[in-house]
Amino acid sequence: MYRPSALLLYSLVSTAIFNCIYAEEVKIEVLYKPENCPVKSKRGDALNAHYDGYLAKDGSKVYCSRTDNEGHPKWFILGVGQVIKGLDIGMTGMCEGEKRKLMIPPSLGYGVIGKENIPPNSTLIFEIELYGVRRGPRSVESFKLIDLDGDSKLSRDELKIYLQEEFKKDTRKQDPSYKDRVLADILRKNDHDGDGYISTREYNVFQHDEL
Ligand SMILES: *[C@@H]1O[C@H](CO)[C@@H](O)[C@H](O)[C@H]1NC(C)=O
Repeated sequence: MYRPSALLLYSLVSTAIFNCIYAEEVKIEVLYKPENCPVKSKRGDALNAHYDGYLAKDGSKVYCSRTDNEGHPKWFILGVGQVIKGLDIGMTGMCEGEKRKLMIPPSLGYGVIGKENIPPNSTLIFEIELYGVRRGPRSVESFKLIDLDGDSKLSRDELKIYLQEEFKKDTRKQDPSYKDRVLADILRKNDHDGDGYISTREYNVFQHDEL
């Protein structure tokens, strides 16, 4: 009867050691999850959220989006390093309306250096409320919208039609040559192989989906 418990003990100890050395993950606690969840956040999405940050060691508040920017929730793109790594990881797969509490180790936060009011090697706690998830400007959805003939590449004409629709939404007066300049600029910046088309690969900068 000794054997199983010794084994169990051994596995607990090794897990503890493992966790000690590699405790570099974000702990996610879901505080509230709405029943209706049509979209889940993923890399490349634009998220609208409030997040308050605290130091784990004494609970002092280091960041509060509710007092910043007149209390408007923040918009940012997920998974591209616009926020600390721990938030990029911890805010993935969230529903609109979901609330989470994250524990972020220093290596996924501000590291051994720290920042302003965040001391070196700080573990951070974030409380997050996600309000909105929008598919990013480089999503599969937007590609399909532009790719009218469905051949998985964007031609000059398809881009032109798309831009015309976009420009209709903008009520400001535009110089007639503006549209052509924007089109030329889009092709120059995205058509890397110069074949006159923007491929899925050239388009999908975040590469977060298969087309
Ligand atoms: C932060 O952690 C690193 C690595 O564990 C250590 O070398 C360093 O002395 C720590 N800095 C402070 C200020 O505690």
